Amino acid sequence: MKKWVALFVAVLIIGTIFSGTLAEIKERGKLIIGTEPTFPPFEYVNEKNEIVGFDIDIAQKIADELGVELEIVNLPFDSLIPALMSDKIDLIVAGMTITEERAKVIDFSIPYFNANQAIVVRGNEGFMPATLEDLKGKRVAVQLGTTGDLVVSDIKEIMVTRFQKFTDAFLELQNKRVDAVVLDEAVANAYVKTFPKFVVSAIIDTGEKYGIGVKKGNTELLEFVNTVVSNLFKSPYDLLVEKWFEETK
Ligand code: ARG
Repeated sequence: MKKWVALFVAVLIIGTIFSGTLAEIKERGKLIIGTEPTFPPFEYVNEKNEIVGFDIDIAQKIADELGVELEIVNLPFDSLIPALMSDKIDLIVAGMTITEERAKVIDFSIPYFNANQAIVVRGNEGFMPATLEDLKGKRVAVQLGTTGDLVVSDIKEIMVTRFQKFTDAFLELQNKRVDAVVLDEAVANAYVKTFPKFVVSAIIDTGEKYGIGVKKGNTELLEFVNTVVSNLFKSPYDLLVEKWFEETK
């Protein structure tokens, strides 16, 4: 009987240590985020081998507000949700689109960026697909488990190759083993800027919104993240008005 009680208490303690609640993150002194860094300008590896980008700055802001260090875990995109669900990371900050399917298993912060999909081709061969339909009978590279993967996989006549890294998808395009890459518009623009031989041939209006992923039930952390994100949208003037007028009400 005593053994069981001891075991139960141990499980409870371990549970609180690894549950990634606000209190636990503060105690541990670091916020652990998961991301997949072949997604410029949201997250990519720079010349100094550091993971940087728009999302990383947001994550840093959250860590700063919590008064803890930021630790970044580099994972394949399709491993991020399992990692969050099994408490290996506290947050997903990865340009992740809020979808109904994903929202069944994790929670999302308020949206912080609007996105559409884009078709990228080599550009010097006269193949300029304007719609997804134009990709029928063609070979298309995507990142495994992304919304780009979903939209092309919906059309059965498209031959889809799925990569873990966008850098590999673009290598495949360069080596003419695929005819196009489908990915988020802002990221497509970033790749085209670094590899001018590629062009964006079309934008597919998918009306996506990015959110930060939080484990279901971790409400305190979700609310904290939402406060930090909503404050990002406020001007310094808004923040002053809030400080001196609204808070004194
Ligand atoms: N927005 C797309 C999605 O949620 C692609 C995100 C890919 N992000 C990344 N860091 N590789 O499916």
